[in-house]
Amino acid sequence: EVLPRPEMFDFHGVCMVHQFTDNWDNLQNFKARPDDILIATYPKSGTTWVSYILDLLYFGHMGPDRQKSIPLNDRVPFLEICKPRLPTGTEQAEKLPTTPRLIKTHLPVQFVPQSFWEQRCRIIYVARNAKDNVVSYFHFSRMNSALPEPGDWSAYLQEFMEGKRAFGSWYDHVNSWWEKKETYSNLHYMFYEGLIEDCGREIDRLCSFLGLSPSVEEKERVRASVTFDSMKQNKMTNYSTVKTMNHKMSPFMRKGKVGDWKNHFTVAQNEKFDEDYKQKMKNPDLKFRFEI
Ligand code: PPS
Repeated sequence: EVLPRPEMFDFHGVCMVHQFTDNWDNLQNFKARPDDILIATYPKSGTTWVSYILDLLYFGHMGPDRQKSIPLNDRVPFLEICKPRLPTGTEQAEKLPTTPRLIKTHLPVQFVPQSFWEQRCRIIYVARNAKDNVVSYFHFSRMNSALPEPGDWSAYLQEFMEGKRAFGSWYDHVNSWWEKKETYSNLHYMFYEGLIEDCGREIDRLCSFLGLSPSVEEKERVRASVTFDSMKQNKMTNYSTVKTMNHKMSPFMRKGKVGDWKNHFTVAQNEKFDEDYKQKMKNPDLKFRFEI
């Protein structure tokens, strides 16, 4: 299904599109429960990967029927999504039959509904290095008609650097979520590159954050189910069920690598990017890896 491409606009200082802002009152009044788990990311940082890890850790024991019949996207609702997609993310979250509710969001930290903080919900933030992140977002914007037209690569890269893509500036997003850790202890900040380097280790860290103690076998089952290849083959995790996406143009499960940016950035683009990056990323504690 090819929809007319949406426009971007400034929403309280952040570049957004209507599909993520038009349910604003319901979103801001959303009633989080203390055991809700929020997965927060800038788009294309490992949302689906971590969603599936959590879904298997909590609900893997429910057996293969659930795994084969319900798209991951419906098991882990996307909080801010709304019309033309119905039910809205908030409605979907309200109707979830399982506990704890796993909910994902791309919202910048200042847009997260108050109740998540008030209820002291556990929040997992996943960040990915900016260069691979922008490459992934570019290809995703080509294949998903629900997002604004990406234009050509060099224009896209420039807009990304200026914070002019849906959900705003990557730099502000990763930095302000990082700063939130100082005042909100129930936040686990993790990296896509860490998952690539050692997924088992990251699953262990998630388990200790969440207070879970799966057996060695269970953990190994989760790890084996969430490899790039298994998730790419799995119709419930590869987004083949979503109508606005054209996987022939670029599959949702595209490459799953660290360092693919080297196949996209020219030397000049890379130099300009690095210069700009230094200006925007001044916190020495927040370090990203661009290769492994
Ligand atoms: S979205 O649309 O924002 O929810 O996308 P998101 O899931 O955050 O990011 C999609 C990118 O993550 C890659 N991915 C994986 N890489 C390695 N292993 C596993 N299991 C995995 N699952 C998803 C996916 O391929 C997208 O990255 P690119 O670089 O485009 O391949």
